[in-house]
Amino acid sequence: MKQTERFAPHIFLHGGDYNPDQWLDRPEILEEDIRLMKEAHVNEASIGIFAWAKEEPKEGKYDLEWLAQVINRLYKNGIYTILATPTGALPHWMTEKYPEVLKVDEHGIRRIHGQRHNFCPSSPVLRKKMQGINEELSRRFGRHPGVIAWHLSNEYGGDNDAKTTIGCHCPYCEENFRKFLKARYGTLDALNKAWWTGFWSNIFTDWNQIHCPGEGSEHTMHGIKLDYKRFVSAQMLDFCKAEAEAVRKYSDRPVCSNLMGAFEPLDYFKWARELDFVSIDSYPDWHHVASARPEDQLPGGSVLPCDAEPARITAFNYALTRSLKKQPFLLMESTPSMVNWKSRNPVKRPGMHELSSLQAVANGSDSVQYFQWRKSLGSSEKLHGAVVGHMYGADTRVFRDVARLGERLETLAPKVLGTVNKPKAALLFDWENMWAVNDAQAVVQPFGYQERMKDWFKPFFDMGIDCDIVDMDSDISDYRLLAAPYNYMYKPGWAEKVREFVQKGGIFVTTVWSGIVNESDRCFEERHPLADVLGIRPEETDTRPPFMKNWIRWREEGEEIPERAGRKHPLYEVRDLAGIVGAESAEVLATYTDDFYADSPALTMNRFGEGCAYYAAAEGDTAFVKALLVRALSDAGIECPLEARLPEPEASERPWAKLPHGVTVSMREKIESGASTGDNSGARSDDPAGTLLFVQNFNARPVEILLKKAYRNAENGQICQDGITLEKYQCLVLEEL
Ligand code: GLA
Ligand code: GLA
Repeated sequence: MKQTERFAPHIFLHGGDYNPDQWLDRPEILEEDIRLMKEAHVNEASIGIFAWAKEEPKEGKYDLEWLAQVINRLYKNGIYTILATPTGALPHWMTEKYPEVLKVDEHGIRRIHGQRHNFCPSSPVLRKKMQGINEELSRRFGRHPGVIAWHLSNEYGGDNDAKTTIGCHCPYCEENFRKFLKARYGTLDALNKAWWTGFWSNIFTDWNQIHCPGEGSEHTMHGIKLDYKRFVSAQMLDFCKAEAEAVRKYSDRPVCSNLMGAFEPLDYFKWARELDFVSIDSYPDWHHVASARPEDQLPGGSVLPCDAEPARITAFNYALTRSLKKQPFLLMESTPSMVNWKSRNPVKRPGMHELSSLQAVANGSDSVQYFQWRKSLGSSEKLHGAVVGHMYGADTRVFRDVARLGERLETLAPKVLGTVNKPKAALLFDWENMWAVNDAQAVVQPFGYQERMKDWFKPFFDMGIDCDIVDMDSDISDYRLLAAPYNYMYKPGWAEKVREFVQKGGIFVTTVWSGIVNESDRCFEERHPLADVLGIRPEETDTRPPFMKNWIRWREEGEEIPERAGRKHPLYEVRDLAGIVGAESAEVLATYTDDFYADSPALTMNRFGEGCAYYAAAEGDTAFVKALLVRALSDAGIECPLEARLPEPEASERPWAKLPHGVTVSMREKIESGASTGDNSGARSDDPAGTLLFVQNFNARPVEILLKKAYRNAENGQICQDGITLEKYQCLVLEEL
């Protein structure tokens, strides 16, 4: 069966994690759940995520009768099930009898039973037990009309202690790591060369000399660390594939897993190829950042929040999730009110629930789902937000917010289904590049690739321009602009791909700290792999102490920014990295103002073939990144799809902007018939029918927008034109007329 044929839900889902397994002795609660779900306009429940101990109470003895009753009851009431495999948490009988199922840490210590997400993905016993329960679930429910998809495990690798490695260091994993390396390199000689093992006497003469790297063993050799990260992601994926195979034995339902955005340990681009569709769990920091604007300072010393900051980080994660398969995804988990695991846990302010849910839809989600439907009475998540709390049933603010949104989603669903965002701009975010650049022992440490990338996403968000996120293996031919900041690693074929992209008219933007190492983290020799396309000669990279300031002087007429230190030209501050480069064929657009490299290139542009390539030698402040992207987007002919302008005086203050501060736009267009959902090649349709513009106000105050043409409100049919007001936290969905 073709992957896209399995793309799940042909319905727009509103629902979430539901744990009836915790309430089996309370039948009246289970009845009430159904009544409340209907009242909340819920049509989906994700079930059985942590229910292994209830599903297989004794080894090999399955008890799925209760589950059958739950699924049937839901189905009879018009509520679909996404059925989970239960490997997210192991039953006690298993860890007691087979300790090998638990993960071994990097000091060689095996975990003791506790928490969740802590299994060894190589353990043969675990795989056998997983296969047993998964096949049984598939046999019983795999073709049940109420079951629409499989939720494989839960947040694979989402171990609370995990930072950059979630790997298991048991003998099975070590053996599998060696197998992985044999398949990658073939011979020890090739491996020794790739890893440059002559350094510190590391030449391997036997495969058994290779151990999983970690704190207690090798942790300085970049080549082995990078390959180990690849292995950890691949080995967990191998387990996930085995889970998929087990449920597919009797079931034709599509499989997904709940992913976590830019989760460093797992290379989700590779994962997405094995899943029929993808989903994300999203818990943004709403109401965590104080607004810096004078009008948001309240009498008495309180300050309104600036939710544009968490919103752009969230938009990045949604764009990434959508781009994994270039098709709609599901928002598998979000909280209807608050979480319980941040240092502070504000409840969502009125309006934020609708806005934050519609933000996911705006960026390509075909669902709004929650963790969790009903709060447990005990254990670690008893005080986490839920649709139904411990008291007052439907008579709460949170429940009413959810029900109101459910109604809105029912109106929007027919228009949203069959559409997706089709950006013409893309940002390179590559897991292997991230692993290598974050491990580089140079410049600034820790490097923080993710945070730096999210800064590059900010201008797209601020300008209301959708942007895909791609990796070096993605097809880039359909984009007009590709930004690849901190592209430290160039995988085989990448330079050629970019060269062709620019040759054919693409606009390419890259930065300092690019083109340094190959796929094995070995440095390139002689010249930058894209020296011809960029037209430059990078020589040194300086990271000055913060007290040694430097600035970027943009030579052309740029946007007016305040003069600094009495200088006359538009100036931007240099942040951490300052590349010292020579311009060969490239035109110098900006130079440094200070230090021994004053007047040398800080930004260059090189015409190549039909396109051009920008190189930001200086790592500029956010205003610099914005100015650079404003220019590159204009070269590429990409702009905010909403035809609008700002009222004065904001229009003069922010000449690049069509939208007020804190407002963004995302556009979903018809997925062309004939083209599969996973296909981005269908160029933007000339027929605007079916196009939806989501105009989102993340300000805690109303804003005004001046429309340059008329649109129709997709929910109530009213015509919107000229000046319109977006209320605090409002999301307006507009259609082209
Ligand atoms: C020490 C070591 C050298 C080298 C340098 C790097 O001095 O002896 O081998 O690692 O540090 O600064
Ligand atoms: C994750 C998990 C859920 C729950 C939520 C709480 O997303 O998948 O099981 O723990 O966090 O926010």
